Parts: sequence; structure tokens; C-alpha cells
Amino acid sequence: MKVLVVGNGGREHTIAHVLLQSEQVERVFCIPGNGGTAINPRCQNFAFAATDFAAIARVVSTHGISLVVVGPEAPLAVGIVDFLRDRHIPAFGPTQAGAQIEASKSWAKDLMFEAGVPTAASATFTELAAAKAYLQQTGAPIVVKADGLAAGKGVTVAMTLEEAIAAVEAILGGQFGSAGSSLVIEEFMEGREVSVLALTDGRTVRPLIPAQDHKRIGEGDTGPNTGGMGTYAPAPLVTPELMARIETEVLQPTVAALAARGIDYRGVLYAGLMITPEGDPRVVEFNCRFGDPETQVVLPLLETPLHELLLACVEQRLGDLPPIAWKPGAAGCVVVAAQGYPGSFAKGTAISGLEAAEATGAMVFHAGTRLVRGNGNGSDRLVSDGGRVLGVTAIGADFDAAFATVYEAIAAIDYPDKAYRRDIGYQVRQQPWDHLPLPNAAASGTADNPPTST
Ligand code: AMP
Ligand code: GLY
Repeated sequence: MKVLVVGNGGREHTIAHVLLQSEQVERVFCIPGNGGTAINPRCQNFAFAATDFAAIARVVSTHGISLVVVGPEAPLAVGIVDFLRDRHIPAFGPTQAGAQIEASKSWAKDLMFEAGVPTAASATFTELAAAKAYLQQTGAPIVVKADGLAAGKGVTVAMTLEEAIAAVEAILGGQFGSAGSSLVIEEFMEGREVSVLALTDGRTVRPLIPAQDHKRIGEGDTGPNTGGMGTYAPAPLVTPELMARIETEVLQPTVAALAARGIDYRGVLYAGLMITPEGDPRVVEFNCRFGDPETQVVLPLLETPLHELLLACVEQRLGDLPPIAWKPGAAGCVVVAAQGYPGSFAKGTAISGLEAAEATGAMVFHAGTRLVRGNGNGSDRLVSDGGRVLGVTAIGADFDAAFATVYEAIAAIDYPDKAYRRDIGYQVRQQPWDHLPLPNAAASGTADNPPTST
């Protein structure tokens, strides 16, 4: 079969790579794809925007594609799956109505309260005076979120009242455009964060192995938030008992509540969870897609062919499949970013040494890269094209082995702007990071953190 992957990040390169592990998948087309999918002889990029639905439908019919997999939230939030389904094109991902679970924080909170899903107490505001008056009552720490999609930049974890008020003023003052015409003020939750991505066909829910992201740019979880600097899976924080609770207390009631609203949700339901010091799961946010860079560690551990799972979601027969099979061992991913990210950074810097990196046994998933075509004879050049440039991933017998391979591979990469965290997976590795405070403890302070960046 031929599959089309929509998106251009590390997540999409990983999806393409894992799909191609199966002999059943002969070719993967990408819109727009990146340098990694450009290099792979079994992939083909088309330089259309992920929101150019008409171009996507044309590529599907021209190339006899039997499944479209949508990576990012933006096309889902504007109805790509509705458009494709109307044209009888099988598409993996929720409809526009379902994507509201990520695209509107207030909508998602209403759904959670309705379904009895554990999450932070919250209130929604459109008026500055009312929001400020509420903050005077709650005090800090407190969390302020732009309601709509703000490319991960709309959340402020405020340690002081002044910071919270500044965030409210920025959001309602138009800093995020229409994404900030309303906002959510939310109770601060303490604990450890973990991502549980689940597949669903709207009826059955099948969680994938849990993953841990590292959102801060700096070692020891310091500095500004990013789109994610590294991941590992399966996260031992989520014991089988805790996973069972996440299924029954979070995932199943959410899918049931979506169905009760008449929403036919087929795709990934990504639960960003806070595991409280008491060991209880509470939802920080839902996303309507695979996580990035969680995908880079979760999908390579799949034993079950990915296309079988995705098709079963689209065709609403996930419940008929045997349990998802996983490879033994552990996976780690370290993001190689451009120096300066999440602030300003250079693009167009040459990258080489990827064969040497992969000779260690690691997989190099591209995120912000671009292939500049030369005039034949190996004159193509790979250059950086984003803040998060590569996601270097390895599978090992344990986390120490996986990360040893990852860091060896990174050392082999020749990219002058390369910046990365050396402590990814410190929670599960024999590294001297154990003295560091809980990533999300109130005492760790976030007062000088600029907003999140992708
Ligand atoms: P979100 O975009 O909703 O995932 O928020 C971005 C980050 O802000 C999360 O990954 C958490 O680290 C933090 N955060 C969001 N909501 C809360 C909350 N209610 N309590 C504590 N931290 C939060
Ligand atoms: N890794 C965080 C996200 O995908 O939203």
C-alpha cells in the first residue's frame, strides 16, 4: 500500500520510517516532508502546505494512496479529515469537531469536567477585569493559558500574581491573536509529567507505551520551555497499575464523552498527565495527534506493524485486533537543536556525518532539515531549516545502553550549530542528576521563563 503523511517534523519522519518497516507499505509520500524524507528513496515529498487540502486530495488520487496520516494539529483543527472523509479518502486523525480537544482549552476542560476526568480546577474568561479579580482570589502559583492554538506558546506557569496578571493582559491584549480571545486560568498542579498516547477508533482505546518528554532547554530542566528536547519510553513512572487507572479514569471516559457529543474520533488521543506526589494521574492537556518527540521513541518500539493499527482506527475495528506487541528494551531520543533555540537561531547551516551517526545503530530522525538539490553526482546538500533539527534515537537493552548509543551518534554528527541536552533520561539513567528538584515542583521557580516554543 501507499501512504501519505502530512507534516514536516521529526514526528512525521518517524511515522514514515516506521511505516516502511513493513513490506506491506511500498511507498510513503509526504506533504511537505523534510530533508529526512527527501533522502529516503522510498519516500517522496511534495512541496504543498499541510493545510492545502485540494493539493493533498490531488496527490492522493494521482498516486493511488490508500491512507492519509495527519501529523500536526493545525490541519486537523481546520478540518482536513472532514474534507478527506467527504471524498471517501481514508484519513487517520480526528475531525475538526474532535480536534477541539486540543484547539480549545476551555472546550477540553468542559469535556473533562463533564466526563469526570481528573484535571486541574479552572475557569474561563474573556474580560480582563473578571480574570484579574479571579486571580486576586486564587493567588499564585497559578497557570494562565490562551484558549486557542498558540504553537505551544500560550501557557504561563506563574509563580507570582504579577506574572499571572501580565500573562492575562498579554493574552487578552491580543498577543496570540484570536487564539487569545478567551483564556483559561487553572490550578497549579505539582508532580511529574508523562505522556500517554492512545490509539482510538472512537469506541475502543488502546494506549501505547508511556513516554517522558523534557520540555526545558537546559540541563536539569532549567530555562525556557521548548517543543521538547528529548524523550524516553517506556517511562517506568507509569507502572501497569497506574496505566490501568489512566485507561479507566482518563482515556475511556474521554472517548465516551466525545462519542456522547456525537464526535466520531479516530486517531491519537494524547494525554499529557501530571502524576501527583500521591501517585494519582491528572490531565494537564489533551492533544489530538502524536506527540513530538514522543513519537520518536514510542513508534520504533512497535512490533505490530504501524499501518495495521492506523487502518484499524480508520476502519473502526481496533477492538478486533490482538493486543499491541512491543519490542523488548528501551528507547531514548535526544533532540539536536540549533544554537540559540528556542530564541533566534540560524537556518541553512550544513549538516553531515549522518551515515557515521547511524553506523552506531542509532536512527536519525530529521525535524528542521531541508535537502538542497544539486545537479546530480551526490551534490545534494543537507541543511538546517528549523529550531529542532534532528531527533537522534536508539533502542537498547536498557536506558543506559540506548542513551550511550544516542550520544555516540550525536558526537559523529557534523553540524556547527549543534546544541543538545546531555542529561536526557536522567530520571532513568545512572547519571549524577538525581539531586535535582522535581521538574515541576513549585520551589523550582519559573519566573524568568519565556513562553514555550516549537
Ligand atoms: P500545555 O501546553 O497545556 O501542555 O502546558 C505546557 C506546560 O505547562 C505543561 O507541559 C506543564 O509543564 C505546564 N503546565 C500546564 N498546565 C499546568 C498546570 N495546571 N499545573 C502545572 N503545570 C502546568
Ligand atoms: N511533546 C509535546 C507535544 O507533542 O505536544
